[in-house]
Amino acid sequence: MFKRIVLLGPPGAGKGTQAKLLAAKNGLAHLSTGDILRDEVARDTELGRKAKGYMNRGDLVPDGLIIDMIKGRLAEKSGFILDGFPRTVTQAEALEKILSIDVAINITLSREEVISRLSSRRVCRKCGKIYNLLYNPPKNEGVCDACGGEIFQRDDDKREVIENRYDVYMEATAPLIDFYEERGLLKDVDGSQPTEKVSEDILAVLGR
Ligand code: AP5
Repeated sequence: MFKRIVLLGPPGAGKGTQAKLLAAKNGLAHLSTGDILRDEVARDTELGRKAKGYMNRGDLVPDGLIIDMIKGRLAEKSGFILDGFPRTVTQAEALEKILSIDVAINITLSREEVISRLSSRRVCRKCGKIYNLLYNPPKNEGVCDACGGEIFQRDDDKREVIENRYDVYMEATAPLIDFYEERGLLKDVDGSQPTEKVSEDILAVLGR
């Protein structure tokens, strides 16, 4: 049974959605570098101030900052899902020095679908629940079904930023597909299917 899991895939492929489901059902820690960074920005920490500009443009935050940020958080975890890390070959090499992973699941999605999904994504400010105005809108507009929190649109979910994020993904992160393939750790899952079917396919890969 795989317990140390990396989720790969373009922005909007469903990494956060699937990681939350998997973590809740299987008692694994969910480590999302995007969520950690957004929290640092919201709290106006030194790291948050350094990261904010890169994130709002859809560029990657420098490797050194990210590796320092994730190192301590990984130290005591036996089972985890890494969502949004590693994102460059340098980060993947740094991860290999910290610990080994069991599997890298690559959730695939076309550029067209990425743009459509992210333009219509909304997130709860309080509990982080992810919605989509096209596929799974909240029951009451602007209000989270789960906790009653305010629903908002991420700053980087604007069309021009989404397009840059996709280009950055193709240039800096897509090479990780070969990186993990060469190590015999890569498994593809078709992210264009309904959420429940993507979950089933991931569970099948994990041997659950
Ligand atoms: P991050 O938050 O990691 O963004 P991302 O990788 O671009 O991924 P997203 O959160 O946009 O998408 P997702 O795949 O999680 O999709 P989701 O489940 O939400 O990073 C943000 C920024 O932080 C980066 O740009 C960078 O600046 C910085 N950063 C983070 N990590 C870094 C690192 N390691 N190095 C350097 N910089 C870093 O789903 C998307 C939408 O689709 C939702 O509306 C959802 O409801 C819907 N949906 C999901 N699945 C389905 C489905 N099967 N069918 C229909 N709709 C679906």
